[in-house]
Amino acid sequence: RQRIFSAMQPTSDSLHLGNYLGALVNWVSLQDAYDAFYGVVDLHALTVPTDPAVLRERTRRTAAQYLAAGVDPQRSTLMAQSLVPEHTELAWILACHTGFGEASRMTQFKDKVAKGQTANVGLFTYPILMAADILLYDANLVPVGEDQRQHLELTRDLAERVNARFPETFVVPEPYIVKGSAKIQDLQDPTAKMSKSISADLGLIDLMDDPKRIVKKIKSAVTDTEREIRFDPENKPGVSNLLVMHSTLSGTTVADLERAFEGKGYGDLKAEVADVVVAAIEPFQSRMAELLADPAEIDRLLAEGSAKARLVAADVLERFHDRLGLLPRR
Ligand code: TYM
Repeated sequence: RQRIFSAMQPTSDSLHLGNYLGALVNWVSLQDAYDAFYGVVDLHALTVPTDPAVLRERTRRTAAQYLAAGVDPQRSTLMAQSLVPEHTELAWILACHTGFGEASRMTQFKDKVAKGQTANVGLFTYPILMAADILLYDANLVPVGEDQRQHLELTRDLAERVNARFPETFVVPEPYIVKGSAKIQDLQDPTAKMSKSISADLGLIDLMDDPKRIVKKIKSAVTDTEREIRFDPENKPGVSNLLVMHSTLSGTTVADLERAFEGKGYGDLKAEVADVVVAAIEPFQSRMAELLADPAEIDRLLAEGSAKARLVAADVLERFHDRLGLLPRR
């Protein structure tokens, strides 16, 4: 069976609808056909200073949200990055294969710095640790949103570079980025992506938001001055964003939605999108309430999954160590 690796940062108490539609929905649907590893990348979250108790809680909550969305720990391996030390070990070696200019071209880093985030060296080398996350599992496929495309390109470049010197060391991973849902836009500024670090409260739907707030946020979404409900991200980003949300959750194609909403108004579209989103989120939230009632069980699942992940990661790292000329461990 082919492998999947993907992960999210535990940088907030709740994932948002972009994380859910752009990534998590696909994690769930891919776990049957693939041998899947899903991580909470707590070391990546250290690039932003966070209160220790808050970080620990967010790591648990992030894992719980994977489970609440339908990731099944019997079928998929749930892991925490810091519990598998091979991630940081491989990141060092990959850093020695990354050009300084190449790392400097990462747009997410440049954007964060431009928006005033103080840049530590960890934020700069972040994509290299991400490459290590993926390459350690011989992952064939990486389901992520559009904003991770450049990081995936770097991962592929690093794998190919290493393979050119030491043939067949790494599997070169393919991105799995679904057109449309891979870039859920901010409700208040539909020309920008929904983002936990940038979006204003009204622009972003948290999966843990009160359903009443969710309805309110969708009803106040920015659209345009026309009336026609048509998928046209260029000229009608707000309406197109709502159509994508509906389509991804309801399974109705955008073309069918356009037909169904012919002659209807934006108010009708918003009301129906709100219904569809709330219908998905309500069972998610009740599952979260059950999971959070037993945090020790989440810790147990993470520890168990991480031990399993480590068996794979240690083999892949050992293979690379051997080719590089480092001494054998065992
Ligand atoms: P993170 O934690 O910022 O986001 C988690 C996932 O959500 C996707 N995403 C979106 N998708 C659609 N629309 C949006 N508005 C939107 N916002 C976020 C992201 O693309 C991502 O798939 N660097 C990664 C975490 C990471 C990782 C990895 C991912 C670390 N190691 C290895 C895959 C494989 C990140 O910061 O994602």
